[in-house]
Amino acid sequence: METRRLSVHGPLVSEIGFGGWAIGGGWGDQADADSTAALHTALDAGVNLIDTAQGYGDGRSERLIASVLKDRTEQVFVATKTPPDVGPWPPSPYCRWQDRYSAAYLRENVEQRLRNLNTDCIDLLQLHTWTRAWNDDPQPLLVLRQLREEGKINLIGVSTPEQDQSCVIQLMRDGLVDVVQIIFNLFHQEPVSQLLPVAAETGTGVIVRVALDEGALTGKYSPDHCFPETDFRSQYFAGDRMSRVADRVEAIRSDLDDFGLAEQYSLADVSLKFALSRPEVSTVIAGMRNHDQAKMNTRTAQLRDLPDELIDHLHRHNWLRGVWYGGK
Ligand SMILES: NC(=O)c1ccc[n+]([C@@H]2O[C@H](COP(=O)([O-])OP(=O)(O)OC[C@H]3O[C@@H](n4cnc5c(N)ncnc54)[C@H](OP(=O)(O)O)[C@@H]3O)[C@@H](O)[C@H]2O)c1
Repeated sequence: METRRLSVHGPLVSEIGFGGWAIGGGWGDQADADSTAALHTALDAGVNLIDTAQGYGDGRSERLIASVLKDRTEQVFVATKTPPDVGPWPPSPYCRWQDRYSAAYLRENVEQRLRNLNTDCIDLLQLHTWTRAWNDDPQPLLVLRQLREEGKINLIGVSTPEQDQSCVIQLMRDGLVDVVQIIFNLFHQEPVSQLLPVAAETGTGVIVRVALDEGALTGKYSPDHCFPETDFRSQYFAGDRMSRVADRVEAIRSDLDDFGLAEQYSLADVSLKFALSRPEVSTVIAGMRNHDQAKMNTRTAQLRDLPDELIDHLHRHNWLRGVWYGGK
């Protein structure tokens, strides 16, 4: 597996990383045995970065990852996340950091992350998430710096709020974050306008999430696909959203046909490779729930890069659809 550097001072990480949300819960039924198999398959294929969070099953994902890593000998970089203290999600512009990320709260939360991950030092601690209301007084990130000096954290990051990803640009320029975690996919291409160039300018590491648009960009869901109620996607793709997405996915499939590449690349391959086509991207964390998905997504890393002409053509799929939460 090819590697890239995760920020100027960070480690070399695999181009494909492991997205650990679904193995924690909230995505319908998920057996720990499938999650464990997915993790081992990904690690066997050279994945050395795993992303998780407190919010993924209230620590279930973190604990499962720790139990798998106990049986492994290679060095694996684990990125986790601390959510804000109770309040609106995502934090509103009226939230005060004193109420959501106080020093006492952050310290206690980091201790909990260390326990769940069964480690003395967190490789990357990301705030999950942020509001630009705190940009001019970013005290929570200074608390994380102290925790780094105390040896509890290595790298510091912020996972962007979907509705305002660019809010982290000031933090990058101010040298407050080593890494940002962003949405960047065939539909959501906005980060190329400023965020990715600033990452290059500042040497900030970039972790790309949701490169498969929560699975839709694999092309496996029909326009009338229904997710179980226990899967958050029953809300995310509520109403006519799945049929609108499916139309757009078909347009991407027909581009692949036009370029004569449908035999060589699956839609999932193209989606992951599209995100990796930007040199500012350090790793793409694909969600993997079982052995087969881990096998397919790590195989993608072996494929040749997409031709430049195809990438240029795929820019037309940029889709300003806003943020989809519950309801229609
Ligand atoms: N705010 C945040 O910080 C935030 C938010 C979202 C995600 N993340 C991180 O980013 C990671 C990736 O995002 P994600 O997991 O939400 O979504 P994703 O990677 O866009 O999609 C994952 C889904 O795609 C399907 N899939 C994956 N590989 C496949 C393959 N090769 N062939 C067919 N289907 C495949 C599976 O769907 P089925 O379940 O239908 O099989 C899987 O659950 C997360 O796991 C998490 O670590 C962070």
